Amino acid sequence: MSFAPVLGLESSCDETAAALVGADNKVLSSVVHSQIDQHAAWGGVVPEIAGRSHLRSIRPVVEQALEHAGLTAKDLGGIAVTNRPGLLGSLLIGTTAAKALAYAWNLPLVGVHHIEAHSYAALMPLAAPHFPYITLIVSGGHTSLYRTDSPLQMKLLGSTLDDAAGEALDKAAKMLGLGYPGGPAIQQAGASGNPQAFPFRLPLLAADSLDFSFSGLKTALLYTIKGPGGTTADPWIVPHDCLPDLCASFESTIARTLARKCRRACEQTGIPRVLIGGGVACNLRLRQVMAEEANKAGFQAHFAPAEYCTDNAVMIAGLGRAMFLHGQSDDLNLDVAASG
Ligand code: KG4
Ligand code: ZN
Repeated sequence: MSFAPVLGLESSCDETAAALVGADNKVLSSVVHSQIDQHAAWGGVVPEIAGRSHLRSIRPVVEQALEHAGLTAKDLGGIAVTNRPGLLGSLLIGTTAAKALAYAWNLPLVGVHHIEAHSYAALMPLAAPHFPYITLIVSGGHTSLYRTDSPLQMKLLGSTLDDAAGEALDKAAKMLGLGYPGGPAIQQAGASGNPQAFPFRLPLLAADSLDFSFSGLKTALLYTIKGPGGTTADPWIVPHDCLPDLCASFESTIARTLARKCRRACEQTGIPRVLIGGGVACNLRLRQVMAEEANKAGFQAHFAPAEYCTDNAVMIAGLGRAMFLHGQSDDLNLDVAASG
């Protein structure tokens, strides 16, 4: 079945994005306006700043996406927008813009779940997806494992009990004076480091658990830097001297934990295929460690393309298009939800 290109909008956190996706998941354009510079001074996303920035950027971002694809409203089949989960004020900007455009251009509208879209980003390059999959979504706000039976059917198997993996990387980078966002900063600083130099314990929880916990690892890093209790005024070690080893060891502990949990999920469910998406899925060490684990345990690991791991609208337009093709749509009463 064919369906004209879909315009996707994403504004759930700190990226304002618009994209056009056509037949066979062909990406016709992708525009992402990142707010990182506006949040960096605060060491994390400030919801009020995010909402105001989305409001300024949403219209130019949509105009650029259409212009880059050489399309106009008349060429579109529908509009897809992230309406859950995320920061309420931020979600409202994208959703209100999508409703206004759908009304003005007389196009169908569909609300997309941000996590399902991250998973869809890993499905998009696969010529013939073979369901079911285990999906790992690993980002600044989420670290969760799902069983995925179709692009729209995901059952939660486990999730973090405290920090998300990206959040742990962001907080660790702050501790080490590396700036925001922490994931890329730690990857860069640890590139030449020895991942075995600091043997942090893997937070694997009970033997059969598919949940995650990264706050203890974060505390272990603090104690490594500042001594037991984390209160020593002078650093216990001088982080600067062993920064590459510290970053490599911390990053590797997170990567090995994620890989081991994917293996556990495959073993428990008998599903030997894993999709991996979300901002932390860009991480090179995670990609390498996951490939090694997959090789050892005999499962396939499919990462989302690096440019569609962090928040983007290609994954929203792609999943929205699949939803339209399945006859799904929403009316102009479409609401937003912070969780769910
Ligand atoms: O998916 P995303 O853009 O936003 C959320 O939905 O949270 O993910 C952002 C997270 C941040 O925590 C950031 O530090 C992390 O992804 N991240 C990375 C890398 N690039 C972004 N973590 C590790 N390695 C990277 N290369
Ligand atoms: Zn995300």
